[in-house]
Amino acid sequence: MNDALLIRRAGQLLTLRGPDGPRRGAALGDVGVVSDGAVLVRDGSIEAVGPAAKVERLAADIRDVREIDAAGRVVMPGFVDSHTHLVYGHPRLLDYEMRLAGADYHEIAAAGGGILSSVKALRAAAPEDLEAQAHRAVRQFVRHGTTTLEAKSGYALDETGEMKTLVVIAAIDGQPLDIVPTYLGAHLVPPEYTENPDAYIDWMCTEMMPRIRRQRLAVFADVYCDRGAFTLDQARRYLECARDQGFELKVHAEQFTHTGAAHLAVELGAASADHLEQADEQDATVLSRSSTIATLLPGSVFHLGLDRFAPARMLIDKGAAVALATDFNPGTSPTCSMPMVLSLACAHMRMSPAEAISAATINGAHAIRRADVTGSLERGKQADMIVLDAEDYRELPYHFGANLVAMTIKRGAIVYQQGDVSNPTVKESAADAR
Ligand code: NIG
Ligand code: FE
Repeated sequence: MNDALLIRRAGQLLTLRGPDGPRRGAALGDVGVVSDGAVLVRDGSIEAVGPAAKVERLAADIRDVREIDAAGRVVMPGFVDSHTHLVYGHPRLLDYEMRLAGADYHEIAAAGGGILSSVKALRAAAPEDLEAQAHRAVRQFVRHGTTTLEAKSGYALDETGEMKTLVVIAAIDGQPLDIVPTYLGAHLVPPEYTENPDAYIDWMCTEMMPRIRRQRLAVFADVYCDRGAFTLDQARRYLECARDQGFELKVHAEQFTHTGAAHLAVELGAASADHLEQADEQDATVLSRSSTIATLLPGSVFHLGLDRFAPARMLIDKGAAVALATDFNPGTSPTCSMPMVLSLACAHMRMSPAEAISAATINGAHAIRRADVTGSLERGKQADMIVLDAEDYRELPYHFGANLVAMTIKRGAIVYQQGDVSNPTVKESAADAR
């Protein structure tokens, strides 16, 4: 295999180059556009990136450079989807129909659907079937331009099923996406502990977390703090013991009801507070003074047919570091499409296309503590990028429901190429041709 790759003649190259920390305020709207750009990749890492003339000159000195001609197209970092419930088994189509007939998320759960119906099914599922489901989803993520994923457990809530989920996540990591694993034991109180949720927290803290850490099966721990799930006090106890055992933290915060979970996330130094549909001005102020990323998930609001999207403008204008993610899951957001999430963010949360792209790449990388290796096109980072069948990056959210991703490149390898005649041309051993 050739170890050098040159992406030539990008009409618009978005580098997302910028300061070390997450992007906020005006910086969120700067995607670092280079017109007529190029990227040189060696051994999966970016060696040079910038104006085509300069980068192509460097490439001329290397033998056997594979070339991708991105003439007139947009080249940008792959999406970093920092919030997914990747492994869930089956779609919840009955829930979907019930909701369309008028039932709400909590009524569906009370009628035997919801998260607990996934729990029942996942506990019974064979690992091979879960792996096949997750693989299918990963293929869709790749087609939609995602190059790094976070993936949560949380649909088993017992030892066997949570370990089974985390082992499936570990098995598909790197095929071809990098997957950052999260233990979401505190997704819901399992049926065995309905009468005593505190004992479930104790069990997770003393039994599950040490086991998961020993086997290195999760980097993050996450909790769903909301009506019908965990209280603020329970969330605090869970997160504190997770932190003490070396987990990085994430919180499902202020989704359906306002609980104070966003404040808690900041207080405990969580990497992100996710959802935030009910977040208020105080939450925005607290988040803006912290390094906790405000991860917004408009796909779940859209799919549930609700109209209260997270207050993205307020968060951005106050200076919070905002990320966007799919929240891929069978109940509230069954989509693998970051482009669709961008369209929702622009139309319903009034983010600009540039802000949405920064939120879906570099800030997503910060939300999973991977900004040192991905999320922007900068020398030394992994060559995780996409080529769009578009001339202008603003077309990405503008053409809602379309998939403009023509090519996905992970660590310098082409992992997806749109099967259409207008594809960017790939030349093997282009050095010979020059
Ligand atoms: O992020 N709200 C909690 N968890 C998911 C939904 C999970 C499900 O319904 O299966 C969410 O929206
Ligand atoms: Fe979620």
